Amino acid sequence: MIDVITIDGPAGSGKSTVSRLLAKRLNYIYLDTGAMYRAVALAAERKDIGIYESNKLKELCRSIDLRYKTDEDPPRLLLDGQDISAAIRTPSMDMLSSSISSVKEVREAMAILQRTISKGARVVAEGRDMGTIVFPEAEHKFFLTASHEVRAERRYRERLQRGESASMFHVSEEMKTRDLQDENRFLSPLKPAKDAVLIDSTLLSPDEIVEKIIRHLKK
Ligand code: DC
Repeated sequence: MIDVITIDGPAGSGKSTVSRLLAKRLNYIYLDTGAMYRAVALAAERKDIGIYESNKLKELCRSIDLRYKTDEDPPRLLLDGQDISAAIRTPSMDMLSSSISSVKEVREAMAILQRTISKGARVVAEGRDMGTIVFPEAEHKFFLTASHEVRAERRYRERLQRGESASMFHVSEEMKTRDLQDENRFLSPLKPAKDAVLIDSTLLSPDEIVEKIIRHLKK
């Protein structure tokens, strides 16, 4: 039985849309682990905890009250009962979540939480280290890539759709910085698992990617 399907990749590779669609199609739980790191970043900012205060971050992760409201589409994320789904999707949270995700105590706490949520469940787990570190035993692993230009363009459009003002140049530069940070950090860097299927999403729609994944699952 397939219990966990992992989907990793950089920002803008299409993994969130694809993971959500795939989970819906298979009737699996969709585990957005980037949102978890974003929530920790937001909680740390609200409590004025810096990224070098590892003990305080550890305590924050231990006590954090995070809940998913899965009866809505897309699912909502609540921190201390408050809907933070929009607050975690800002450019500053893009960068802070990336920085905070390099802290050992934060990664350890999140990995435990991710495994606990997934125990005994059928899950599409999306992130950076799902196939390599958190679920190395998963039978089906996918890694999405796309050209930098297309990924930046997707993020740029998302921002415009949210009514934010954005410049393509800034989005592209921020993305480069975040990619470098995520790929080069010491712990759980962004990289494909050795047994992951690589999918280049540059010229594919989310539905086409889902179909490709389903074909692999049936093999
Ligand atoms: O997928 P995302 O853009 O929402 O993720 C935000 C940040 O969280 C990303 O820059 C790196 C970090 N992250 C991580 O380190 N490991 C994961 N499994 C998911 C996200």
